[in-house]
Amino acid sequence: MHQRMAYTTHLANSFEWLAAQPRNSFHAVITDPPYGVVEFDAKEIEKMRSGTGGIWRIPMEIGGSKRRPQPRFTVLSSEQRSAVETYFADWASLLMPVLVPGAHVLVATNVLLSSRVQNGIERAGFEYRGQIIRMYRGMRGGDRPKLAEEQYPDVAVSLRGGHEPWLLFRKPIEAGLRVSDNLALWGTGGLRRVQRDVPFVDVIQSERTPKVERLICDHPTIKPQSLMRPLTRLLLPLGTGTILDPFMGSGSTIAAAEAQGLDAVGVEFDPIFFEMANAGIPRLARIKPREPSRGAGAPLFEEV
Ligand SMILES: C[S@@+](CC[C@H](N)C(=O)[O-])C[C@H]1O[C@@H](n2cnc3c(N)ncnc32)[C@H](O)[C@@H]1O
Repeated sequence: MHQRMAYTTHLANSFEWLAAQPRNSFHAVITDPPYGVVEFDAKEIEKMRSGTGGIWRIPMEIGGSKRRPQPRFTVLSSEQRSAVETYFADWASLLMPVLVPGAHVLVATNVLLSSRVQNGIERAGFEYRGQIIRMYRGMRGGDRPKLAEEQYPDVAVSLRGGHEPWLLFRKPIEAGLRVSDNLALWGTGGLRRVQRDVPFVDVIQSERTPKVERLICDHPTIKPQSLMRPLTRLLLPLGTGTILDPFMGSGSTIAAAEAQGLDAVGVEFDPIFFEMANAGIPRLARIKPREPSRGAGAPLFEEV
């Protein structure tokens, strides 16, 4: 019988931490990594915290409400873009041995960098298994030419972002084994259906992270529980095993797993985010679905 261990968190650099883990320890990875590599460097985070720019754009106040800083990947040089692929190849090589065969890995990316992230992870030997498109109305792109907004009112310098790609990979199953063999051996290799007769669809409607969750964890890129819960559930086909988030940030993955009674391990190297996650995970895990009577436009979850 599977004995539940709940969750643990580690203040560590994901690369060093992975290198020290025993083989075949984890059954799934779901993570939202620093896909531009540099945006969570201590130097850039310091600039974000002091509001002095760097790669983090501080958006204009709209209607008196302050917007959260967002990383600008358009400022990356071609060398920095190439470094993304190497970073993910190195990271995925360290990840491979700690996963059981057939383990799925789901990685949040950005339209400008997803091909680099994908190439890097494939280079390490993972099978690419498609992507989940998270449709949501973010704040990215669509701006008029800077300092010439009035001169060119009908022009945008980029597309307005309306989705976020999550790349899905699998650690290869041993040659000669079927998915059913792997499920019996390791509990992995497949994905969990939404219901017996409903497989998970690869385009999902989502929301921006509701205020109640952002108030619990003031992380610049916290993901909503309404997204993270179905995604964590998807990755453990039999509902058993341990999920790893090696770039846990606010701990939204760990909270989503905890809310569903799934085991999880989180790693974060920034001490401020790490403390935020430890304090926030139990509260995020207690968020309950909002009652339908609250209206269609209301966030899907609320804190209880
Ligand atoms: C995009 S954020 C994750 C946000 C998270 N999904 C959430 O909902 O809060 C990436 C996180 O990874 C952390 N990070 C970046 N590089 C790391 C590394 N090498 N080891 C551990 N954590 C790292 C950053 O400090 C940041 O908090």
